[in-house]
Amino acid sequence: MKLLIANWKMNKNFDDGLKVIKTIRKKIKNNSNKKYIILPPLQSTLHIKNNLIKNDVIFGSQDCSQFKNGAYTGDISAQMIKKIGCKYILIGHSERRTIFNETDEVLKRKIKRALEQKLKVIFCVGESLTQYKQGNSIKFIIKQLTKVLDNNINFKQIILAYEPIWAIGTNVTPRMEEIDYIHLKIKETMKKKYNILKIPVLYGGSVKAVNSSDIFSLKNVDGGLIGGASLIASEFCKIYDTL
Ligand code: 13P
Repeated sequence: MKLLIANWKMNKNFDDGLKVIKTIRKKIKNNSNKKYIILPPLQSTLHIKNNLIKNDVIFGSQDCSQFKNGAYTGDISAQMIKKIGCKYILIGHSERRTIFNETDEVLKRKIKRALEQKLKVIFCVGESLTQYKQGNSIKFIIKQLTKVLDNNINFKQIILAYEPIWAIGTNVTPRMEEIDYIHLKIKETMKKKYNILKIPVLYGGSVKAVNSSDIFSLKNVDGGLIGGASLIASEFCKIYDTL
């Protein structure tokens, strides 16, 4: 199963979002080989869901609280996210790690909250430009994985995403062989450390219709996590066609 995930970040109001999804829905369909999942800003999701003729679009959230419920102003719990019909939660995006200072401990708790609600987790890892230049990408990524994931996790609920920070929103990507190699190393780590033989690993960072078929044809890449290009329905559908 190949996956294409649209991370809209903090873009699009509910009315614009609905328009984009209506267009996407008309052009592309999920099937048993591939599916797309949309992560709108959460306040739009219910509106969009309620205004679609058919309930056939899969939604997720870009984040969730590390807490179950209570006095946590501004936070939204995994349970609330589940209740509005989301099936997925993105956890550990580099923007959450760097801008919102989310630590490994915080991410661990977020994953726990999501899994308690039987939501699937898309867990992101990826190195900075400095780490890349120093040749430390793999070492850093393995640390990100092993600091947060433990053996008690139900790995059937986990999807991994490799997003080099320096490729996000920059129009640059690692070379194709580098992408494939890192995905391979992530899979090898999952096997060695957790005895997980099969886990989807998605690539994210400047995926566009012009480079998506090259990226998706790589042996170890199981799909994409798309930012900017997912905001334009026609572009997102073109990317989906190459999956
Ligand atoms: P871009 O596709 O805009 O580079 O963003 C990638 C990303 O951060 C998806 O989560």
